[in-house]
Amino acid sequence: MVKAIRVNEHGGPEVLKWEDVEIGEPKEGEIRVKNKAIGVNFIDVYFRKGNYKAPVPFTPGMEAAGVVTAVGPGVTEIKVGHAVAYAGAPLGSYTEEQILPANVVVPVPLSIDYNVAASVLLKGTTAQMLLRRVFKVEAGHTILVHAAAGGVGSLLCQWGKALGATVIGTVSTEQKASQATEDGCDHVIISTKEDFVARVNEITGGKGVDVVYDSIGKDTFQGSLSTLKTRGYMVSFGSPSGTPDPLPLSDLSSKSLYLTLPSLLHYNSTSEELLQSAAELFENVASGALKVRVNHSYPLSEAGRAHADLEARKTSGSIVLLPDN
Ligand SMILES: NC(=O)c1ccc[n+]([C@@H]2O[C@H](COP(=O)([O-])OP(=O)(O)OC[C@H]3O[C@@H](n4cnc5c(N)ncnc54)[C@H](OP(=O)(O)O)[C@@H]3O)[C@@H](O)[C@H]2O)c1
Repeated sequence: MVKAIRVNEHGGPEVLKWEDVEIGEPKEGEIRVKNKAIGVNFIDVYFRKGNYKAPVPFTPGMEAAGVVTAVGPGVTEIKVGHAVAYAGAPLGSYTEEQILPANVVVPVPLSIDYNVAASVLLKGTTAQMLLRRVFKVEAGHTILVHAAAGGVGSLLCQWGKALGATVIGTVSTEQKASQATEDGCDHVIISTKEDFVARVNEITGGKGVDVVYDSIGKDTFQGSLSTLKTRGYMVSFGSPSGTPDPLPLSDLSSKSLYLTLPSLLHYNSTSEELLQSAAELFENVASGALKVRVNHSYPLSEAGRAHADLEARKTSGSIVLLPDN
């Protein structure tokens, strides 16, 4: 038996319950991992509420780092005692210990501790996907990053700047604005006080941006589209404010725009893609090019408090849950 957070019915943060769960032994191709740190991501909220479908009861969470405690038959490369991390499927990281397919984990380099690994693998491979594969950011590009002080946003700003782009970030508070400036934003827009469309227009001299990384959804989608230059890329990759309204295709044709809604699960769908993306990310973390902001930690048993703070926009950078023992 291990302790885990369980969702028995969809709903608010209060549905996250601390319960005993039987996990058993790893079968063919599986390993058991004792989690040292667990990453909290906005996608966990969508699953908890039932916006993304998982049959109840389930253990939420898609990111953790820990130590291997057992390996099943057929697992040759991973040994008991190895430090590993995973991000994405399967659901179930909000637990002291879990069974995982061996082919979804990546080795954690010695230079990276568990809290950092659990804070950065999902968010950082998302940033890698967005900046290096969905749209290849290069020197001379101007990029707009919403929620620039968030978990993914902080990494997007730092990495975008390192690639030579001019980075415009939006945030909700002065405090988040300071963090975004430290993370390399050339221009920070406080969206609760300023009209971001008008400000982007002013900053770019009316030219618009090459790409918008929009993780907000309904509240920003139309405005984001209007900040793009001709042949610009609209990358919609999250929607905490709700699903954007339907879009007539003619809204794209006026500037020959591109529109995409990428999912990490499709971009890291093979072990090779995952390992390559994680290697590029960890290199940037180890070299100091990316600073991982582990700004909040909560006991695993208090995951509900972490969700409430994330949804209330009280957090910045990454959030980790720490198993109690
Ligand atoms: N497509 C993919 O494969 C993929 C993978 C990973 C993450 N994502 C998406 O990336 C986004 C960022 O994830 P994250 O875990 O790093 O979260 P996060 O950015 O740390 O937190 C969300 C932030 O969004 C902003 N926000 C604006 N309107 C909001 C609202 N109505 N409710 C809540 N927050 C709102 C807030 O920043 P301000 O206070 O500054 O506005 C808040 O801090 C999420 O949308 C997530 O779904 C997508």
